[in-house]
Amino acid sequence: MAAAGTGSPSRTALSPPPAPSDKLAAACCFVLLVPFLLLTGGGQAAVAEALSIGVNYGQIANNLPSPARVSWLLRSMRISKVKLYDADPNVLRAFLGTGVEFVVGIGNEAVPSMATSPAAAQAWVQQHVVPHLRSGARIACVTVGNEVFKPGTDDALRAAVLPAMQSVHRALAALGLQGRVNVTTAHSLDIMAASFPPSAGAFAAAALPHLRPFLAFLSATRSPFLINCYPYFAYKADPARVPLDYVLFQPGAAGVADARTGLRYDNMLYAQVDAVYAAIQGMGYTDVEVKVSETGWPSKGDADEPGATPEYAGTYIRNLLRRIEAKQGTPMRPDTPVDVYVFALFNENLKPGPASERNYGLFYPDGTPVYNVVGMQGYLPPMLVSSAGAGGGAGAPPPQVIRWFAMVAIASAALVLLS
Ligand SMILES: *[C@@H]1O[C@H](CO)[C@@H](O)[C@H](O)[C@H]1NC(C)=O
Repeated sequence: MAAAGTGSPSRTALSPPPAPSDKLAAACCFVLLVPFLLLTGGGQAAVAEALSIGVNYGQIANNLPSPARVSWLLRSMRISKVKLYDADPNVLRAFLGTGVEFVVGIGNEAVPSMATSPAAAQAWVQQHVVPHLRSGARIACVTVGNEVFKPGTDDALRAAVLPAMQSVHRALAALGLQGRVNVTTAHSLDIMAASFPPSAGAFAAAALPHLRPFLAFLSATRSPFLINCYPYFAYKADPARVPLDYVLFQPGAAGVADARTGLRYDNMLYAQVDAVYAAIQGMGYTDVEVKVSETGWPSKGDADEPGATPEYAGTYIRNLLRRIEAKQGTPMRPDTPVDVYVFALFNENLKPGPASERNYGLFYPDGTPVYNVVGMQGYLPPMLVSSAGAGGGAGAPPPQVIRWFAMVAIASAALVLLS
């Protein structure tokens, strides 16, 4: 896989050698200034310029940069919404003071114990939510389990999801945090029995017994319904018949009409979201918001995975970004901007399955962009505090690190004063 390339030119150029010359230090300083300029640009608060789109920060890899560097990267991208699959305290700490809003996750393996033990849920909230909120972190949502209702998941786990959500919700409510931290779970689109036309959207019969009380919970607690949507899967399954411009949000795509509602769809993602709205409405709920907890397009795949190219992946993300930043709603909910988390920040080399699974990233682990997305460029700063792979990097930063930080701070202060 291209991502690992330790000897790649960009890695060499950005990694500070053990004993930097003054020239190199100055060059690093200049490079480090770029995110500062972006963040302090015009003296406006970073939040005002933040993108609406969120990013999934998955970590099923053994070659990812430290959370501190990733925090720089995401800020340079102006990303202010990040979804995790756990509640990694190192990540939450690295983002303190950034204003970034988090969705944190409870893994499927922890769901059964929380279903049966309110104490386990309380302990989790005490350990993974309370201290971070106290330090000023923003945790807007907890996902309890991931894609648990899709076919093939064991029944015990499915049955445990809602009770576990209730335990977590009660633990939060006991601390007065209900409303401040939503509780939900993320679904695979496989829970749908029908998704076209969107108005005919319906859940699979096997999922209904679980979804009925689940939707009642979301409605009562005003929490969102999260769905992972990949138009790429539809294209991959039938490239001859699924129009590429429709799945890639290309302007001018012929699209499809929903004959029942008269609504026109020019892209598949919005059709999928509306199918979920229709399925939820079919069960009697009109007050539950649907959010896209994952979507993306792989830049590389196996021989039998057509369309997995950097060109298509870049087109998908570019066009998606344009729509989300325009705060578009779907045809059924034109006034509700679609909330989307891109999958994923990095290529993750330890993900099982077809090659595409390891190639959804916007970035290679060394910080090189996989493709160019105007409006979402980012910069991964050099390895300053911890080194990828070798050693824990837990000790105090070496003196040259402190010198670099001081130079950057002085230079950016000077720039702010001069501007
Ligand atoms: C909780 O979810 C609801 C429904 O999607 C949303 O309106 C609200 O902003 C969310 N709360 C937080 C803290 O994000």
